[in-house]
Amino acid sequence: MDTSLNNSKENHSIKKSLDFYNLMKTRRSVRQFSEKNVADEILLNAVKTAGSSPSGANRQPWHFAIIKSQDIKNKIRTAAESVEHNFYNNQSAKQWIEDLKPFGTNEHKPYLSKAPALIAIFSRTQITEADQNIQKTYYPIESTGIAVGFLITALHQAGLSTLTHTPRPMCFLNEVLNLDKTYKPFMIVVAGYPELPIVLPNITRKDITEISAIY
Ligand SMILES: Cc1cc2nc3c(=O)[nH]c(=O)nc-3n(C[C@H](O)[C@H](O)[C@H](O)COP(=O)(O)O)c2cc1C
Repeated sequence: MDTSLNNSKENHSIKKSLDFYNLMKTRRSVRQFSEKNVADEILLNAVKTAGSSPSGANRQPWHFAIIKSQDIKNKIRTAAESVEHNFYNNQSAKQWIEDLKPFGTNEHKPYLSKAPALIAIFSRTQITEADQNIQKTYYPIESTGIAVGFLITALHQAGLSTLTHTPRPMCFLNEVLNLDKTYKPFMIVVAGYPELPIVLPNITRKDITEISAIY
């Protein structure tokens, strides 16, 4: 292939990489959501995107519970606020709570019942197939983390706002959703449209030279 064609292909890739960066750097965690509905199709396409991510031995060790039911959202909020109450009153988490001060978070999580959708993500330690054969999974945590990255990216590019919420422990999710212990609660992604005006904590990103080096 002639070099000018190679160069133009590379320039195209460089532009695409920059465009994507410019899109992704506008993503922020939102903590005030409006009640405006989100079409199921958007959520399902985002979950399909998450399901296309790489995983150890392609075991796809994840489960995405898309929760739109008001009753279930209320139950999750009640359980999460109880866990968060313990966290914010735990003396051994003092430094952690101090580090969270710039984000203005507290034990109250109104968005869990107000946002139109919660996506509760589980990683799977083993998966029982239709023929009752039990499949072991590999790197379930790493794989699920990558899949959640895909999910958040897909929701952002569709114009939705998200918040990664991680009350600890999260085992109440198994109870509320009636999922057995092979489903390990990983994270709650709150998805929807922001309540206006959007109020965001002031944060900075580390420079490229601080987070990377070319060897
Ligand atoms: C693993 C993980 C857990 C998080 N847990 C919470 C949480 O429980 N509550 C919350 O308000 N934000 C949570 N966040 C959001 C972070 O505070 C936020 O991503 C960070 O401050 C950077 O801000 P940005 O997302 O707007 O770029 C979490 C983020 C990650 C990646």
